[in-house]
Amino acid sequence: MDNTERIPVHVSIIMDGNGRWAKARGKERVAGHMEGVGSVRAVVEAACETGVKYLSLYAFSEENWGRPAAEVDTLMSLMMKSIREECATFLKNDIRFVVLGNRARLSDKLNAAIDGMMDQTAHCKRLTVIVFLSYSGKWDILQAAAKASAELGPEAMATLSEEDFSKYLVTAGIPDPDLLIRTSGEQRISNYLLWQCAYTEFLFTDVLWPDFRKEEFKAALAEYARRDRRYGKVK
Ligand code: IPE
Ligand code: IPE
Ligand code: MG
Repeated sequence: MDNTERIPVHVSIIMDGNGRWAKARGKERVAGHMEGVGSVRAVVEAACETGVKYLSLYAFSEENWGRPAAEVDTLMSLMMKSIREECATFLKNDIRFVVLGNRARLSDKLNAAIDGMMDQTAHCKRLTVIVFLSYSGKWDILQAAAKASAELGPEAMATLSEEDFSKYLVTAGIPDPDLLIRTSGEQRISNYLLWQCAYTEFLFTDVLWPDFRKEEFKAALAEYARRDRRYGKVK
């Protein structure tokens, strides 16, 4: 296949740099988060246009609960507002919406809104957008281990294959990311998809999340097409 046509099936993004974007403009951090919603809209559109099948977005980590309450409240309210505003657009464009993470920590109201949008878009086929909310990679592995051992017992647990274990992760049924993008110049995983990124291609960009739009997304896909994935083998 021609390299320019090597479209990743699953693109994941650690959306970072909202606070710095706002600070550079003399604004409150919240302004950066609000502007960042526009970038989410842009990359969802770009994913549709390019034929990406899964777009996952790290929106809020388990560690982010440790931020000031006002900022946490704003982020949760933005999530709520986005669900209200975007559901119709997702349906119109055949986009499935999924939220993964430690849902027990979210408010009942937000959980109900999430369930509503997930149910309404469950049949959509063109693109799946996954929002990781109250998520951490270590938490995911731990909850998978707990679920698997409760269900299988010690004997089956001892011989469990990697493939079967991954069915207990919250990402069960979703292919591992082909490409992981992190914005804002930080070059770390910040407890994101630790198991699932074993062979993912990483792309770090200095662009702050509110400035990351369609053009930047498409440039990332072009860079991905130039990568040589060897999976430990010799080519
Ligand atoms: C990303 O931007 C959004 C979340 C982590 C929720 P930040 O809020 O981390 O912005 P910086 O990294 O402080 O600039
Ligand atoms: C990672 O960003 C989490 C999300 C983007 C949701 P952070 O800003 O929380 O990560 P650190 O603290 O720089 O590692
Ligand atoms: Mg950050």
